Order: sequence, then structure tokens, then C-alpha cells
Amino acid sequence: MSHDTRTLTRLDYISDEIYEIERSRIFHGGWMLAARADRLENGNRTVVELAGESVLITRDLEGKLHAFANVCRHRGSRLCDANDESKQGSLMCPYHAWTYALDGRLIATPFLDANEVDRELLPLWSYHIRELQGFVFVSLAKDPVDFDYWATKNCADVLRLERFNCGDLRVAATTTCEIAANWKIVIENYQECLHCARVHPELTAVVPTYRTGSVFDHTRTDGGVAITGDFTMPGEVDTSPPLPGISHLDATSYYGGTIFPNGFIDVSGTCVIISTLFPKGPHHTTMTMEYLFAPETIASPNFDPSPTIQFNDLIAEQDAAVCERVHQGVTSRAFEQGVLTPKDSLVIEFTQHYLAARGAVA
Ligand code: FES
Ligand SMILES: [Fe+2]
Repeated sequence: MSHDTRTLTRLDYISDEIYEIERSRIFHGGWMLAARADRLENGNRTVVELAGESVLITRDLEGKLHAFANVCRHRGSRLCDANDESKQGSLMCPYHAWTYALDGRLIATPFLDANEVDRELLPLWSYHIRELQGFVFVSLAKDPVDFDYWATKNCADVLRLERFNCGDLRVAATTTCEIAANWKIVIENYQECLHCARVHPELTAVVPTYRTGSVFDHTRTDGGVAITGDFTMPGEVDTSPPLPGISHLDATSYYGGTIFPNGFIDVSGTCVIISTLFPKGPHHTTMTMEYLFAPETIASPNFDPSPTIQFNDLIAEQDAAVCERVHQGVTSRAFEQGVLTPKDSLVIEFTQHYLAARGAVA
């Protein structure tokens, strides 16, 4: 007897209408992973695009995080450019130089005095922001679901991997992967290993479990799989020490996890890799990969994260290529739904979680 079930449908992957529903109910209606907190020192700002909305994240001079619409209150100019991570104590609009404090207050309006414009009534439009183990989450909803409650449902893996102390680690490097595929295809691919032996020969050389088509080692109950050798390309050496305070088993294992709707966590023993998905519409996803190490490891004169980065980037490129092929395939009128088997249990879980979060479509 077959135990297969079905994937999402063609329209779930490619329809503009369904993407709009995802934007309002999932990406903007819930919480989204937006950044790593340690990237923002006091006085810094960064710009992220959360499903089509440009969001400004600041850390004020007292260290408090804020999120704002990246829009000037004067005439609506885009305030800061993407990738602008300059350290400045304020935010000045490039158009008429209205200037905002990092907590959003409007503090300068050149040529216009208090009789002409009431600055107190014109702070930046703000969003809700929360931090969990160094992960920064933003909600664009006016009255979002309680974050702590939401996190128990959507960040269970962050809580499960708490012993790796992600909040104490620092981003040493960031790479980006552009993927011409729907964001859900990227997640579904991450959640199964039936493709690993075929697509990732370098990965399966160091993670033997993945040669079996399973994401789990069923002899273990902790979700980990053994790494034999270094989490690097053949012949390369990972010179970084194990993450601080972890057991020998954790130092020689790989653990993976997800944050719904848009994050992956990979722990290799020496490094934690955070991948954040930024959907750019139904047909494109930008993925940033941040490589986290202990601060003392980064400070060491011999620190060289490049073998880990090179290896992970290769796996990401291999995954991106197959995700793009899937996106091309599911666009076909012939495609109604694909097939999921018991070895796709995590894909099935994701599909159910997604459908529950999205709700019914008329
Ligand atoms: S639009 Fe920003 S200062 Fe005028
Ligand atoms: Fe893969």
C-alpha cells in the first residue's frame, strides 16, 4: 500500500493572487526573520526588504532596536538606500533633508520652523520588532500575535538548538544567493534529502546519513547526523575550534532547523549558518547566508572561515539550481501536484504549517 501524499499545487507556487495572500497573512501579518542583531552596533541602521516592503532597522544610541517604514513623512521619499549600514547618529532624507533620530523622532526640518510643521506629530511610521537569541524579527501588522506565543509555534528549532548559544555568536561573513524559484520550493528542498546523493556529492561525502535519502539518523533521538571529517570541500581543512561549551557529540554532528516562514539554521560544530529568505514575488527568492562564529574565534589571528563558506556556498548553488528547475517544472500547465513520501515528513509538516498559516483561498 502506498503512503504517498500530495505537494502544494501549481497555483500555490506561481499565482500572483496567492502571493498577495501570503504577503498579507504570513509575511506582513505575522513575524518575519529580518536580520541578525549583532550586525547593528549602537547608532547603526540597515535596510531589509520584507516581501516587497522596505524596512529600516536601527539601533539607537542607548542600544534599543527599532523598525520603521523606510519612508520619509514629508513627501514620501525612500529614506535610506539598501545595504546602507553606515554608522550615523541620525537619518537624513536625501530630498529636503528632514532628519530623524534613530528612535524615529523627527528632529530637523530645514527652512521650516515649529509654526510651519509640527515635528512631534511626524515620527517615522514604526513596526513591531523583537529579538530572540540574536535573531531579529519584525512584524508589519498593526496588532500582531504575541511574539512569545508565535515563537513557540514558528521558532521551535531555535529553542531546540538553544545550547549552541546563537545569541552570543557574531556574523563573520555574509554571502547571497539569487534563486529564480518560489520561496516555498526553496524550503521544501531544504526539508528533504532524497536529492542529496544526486545533487550534493561533496556534502554526502562528509555526512554519510545523507547518502541514504533520509534527513534523520534513526539511531539518534537528538535530530543530529554525524559529520565525518571537516564540513569543507575535499582536501580543505576547517581550522576553527568547536563552538564554545559544546559536547564532543555536538562538535562532530550537523544539526539543521527552520524558522517559519523564512529562515534556516545549520550548525556544523564550528559554525552556525543562518540563511534568510527574502521573497521577491512568486518567482524569485533572495537568500542571504550569514556565517556565525564565537567572537574569540573571529578575533584569533589565524581565523579563516573561507573553507566553510566555500563549502556551504557550493551546496547552496547546487540547491538553487534544482529549485529553479522545479519552479520551471511546476509552471507547466501539466503540473497539478507533486508527490510526497514518508521520507518527506518534514516537507509534509511544512506544507501543513504553511496551509494553516495561509488559510483558505477563495
Ligand atoms: S521627502 Fe523627505 S525631506 Fe522631503
Ligand atoms: Fe540540498
